[in-house]
Amino acid sequence: MSLFAKKSLDQMLAHAADGEKGLKRTLGAGNLIALGIGAIIGAGLFVRTAAAAGQAAGPAVTLSFVVAAIGCAFAGLCYAEFASMIPIAGSAYAYSYVTMGELVAWIIGWALIMEYALGAATVSIAWSEYLNKLLGGAIPYEWTHSPFESFTDSSGVLHTGIMNAPALVILLALTLLLIKGTQESALVNAIIVFIKVAIVLLFIAIGWQFINPANHTPYMIPEGTPPVLDNAGKVIADYSGWNKHGWGGVLGGAAIVFFAFIGFDAVSTAAQEAKNPKRDMPIGILGSLVVCTILYILFGHVLTGVAPWQDFVDPEKGREASVAYAISNFMPGYEWLAQAVTVAILAGFSSVILVMLMGQSRIFYTMSNDGLIPKAFGVLHPKYKTPYKSNWILFVFVGAFAAFVPGHVAGDLTSFGTLFAFVLVSIGVWILRVKSPNMERPFKTPLVPVVCSLGALICLAMIVGLDPQTLKVAFAWMGIGLIVYFAYSRHHSKLKNA
Ligand code: ALA
Repeated sequence: MSLFAKKSLDQMLAHAADGEKGLKRTLGAGNLIALGIGAIIGAGLFVRTAAAAGQAAGPAVTLSFVVAAIGCAFAGLCYAEFASMIPIAGSAYAYSYVTMGELVAWIIGWALIMEYALGAATVSIAWSEYLNKLLGGAIPYEWTHSPFESFTDSSGVLHTGIMNAPALVILLALTLLLIKGTQESALVNAIIVFIKVAIVLLFIAIGWQFINPANHTPYMIPEGTPPVLDNAGKVIADYSGWNKHGWGGVLGGAAIVFFAFIGFDAVSTAAQEAKNPKRDMPIGILGSLVVCTILYILFGHVLTGVAPWQDFVDPEKGREASVAYAISNFMPGYEWLAQAVTVAILAGFSSVILVMLMGQSRIFYTMSNDGLIPKAFGVLHPKYKTPYKSNWILFVFVGAFAAFVPGHVAGDLTSFGTLFAFVLVSIGVWILRVKSPNMERPFKTPLVPVVCSLGALICLAMIVGLDPQTLKVAFAWMGIGLIVYFAYSRHHSKLKNA
């Protein structure tokens, strides 16, 4: 059978209708927007905004948000067409099985592991940062960092990470929750979203008065900015690369903050629980994107206005838990806000991790039902009816990354995986328009093929804007995926053996 064998859409929809027996269509457009925001606002905003400003974009991180948002909007329009047309679990993996065949579906599924599993790892690392901030730095550096991270403090003592223990603890707690079947009800999610958005708004409103215009000048990192060294003379930020200053830095920054938008596509995984998916899926996906984009730009403007971007590369200043740092050091009288922000951020991160772990286990579940990965990933718990084996395997995998890999590496790989899926989804919409022009499309991506091509191109540009090191690791990961496909999945594919 050909590598490009496709599942038929009718088959897939019939299958989904079958599996729908246990699922209730309870989510309206408002719930879907809330679900999107619940999955979107997290480490990307509260950690990577500062990282992008400090390492590549300076105050122009606001423009980085605009670039990333444009790429996401185009990709989001394409997701919306698929999600309204193929309203079933599995997201991009499922869409590509129908449009581009098994091999491409596998490649997307493999890339989605980077998005969801490594996304969960990244946010758990960020969770650990803010927890330690809340505890006043009580957990030693060694136990909150990976072995690949080190820093020399002002007394000349070198600290090297051993493992990130708190990240592992939060992952374990959430894995246990997931196995017990504790689903975030729409209400609980809405409460967390309310708290998250309220904190972001509060920070913007209060912080606005503390903006120091000098911090916004110049607006981009100038060419020739000298590298930043730590106490031992090791380079911790270098601005010489094309994507580390000026407009190039805006693009480099976009690739970093792109992480903050990941999650709007998670709305599409709830397609089977939407009351009126044909109408509400596009509203949920695009609505949550719009709300978050506006908040992000304002947030970036205030954060880089309150604290100088140079502080965001300094491990003894605002490199970690940057928002709390900015408030504590530059907004006198608002220490309570720093504490409140930290607590809200911890709650908010937990919901992002939960949605990511859940999304990953749904994708594994679908892939396992298709025979592409072992059956264990699809086995349900006899009592709780959750894919518990999948959750445990995922915990080991995600936990290893969270404990032993630096946050920015996991974060960049997450961005790669997501961008890659976006590129293929954008192209997929176009392919299906040409191949099956008459299929019913409740939501139509406007201006095809312009929107599809721009979506694919902007996301590709952001991939190019990632670190060369990240790209090497990402391609190695994709290479491993191909080996697994040809050694295992191809021979076990249900489609092939049908
Ligand atoms: N967008 C999500 C976050 O920022 C993944 O944490």
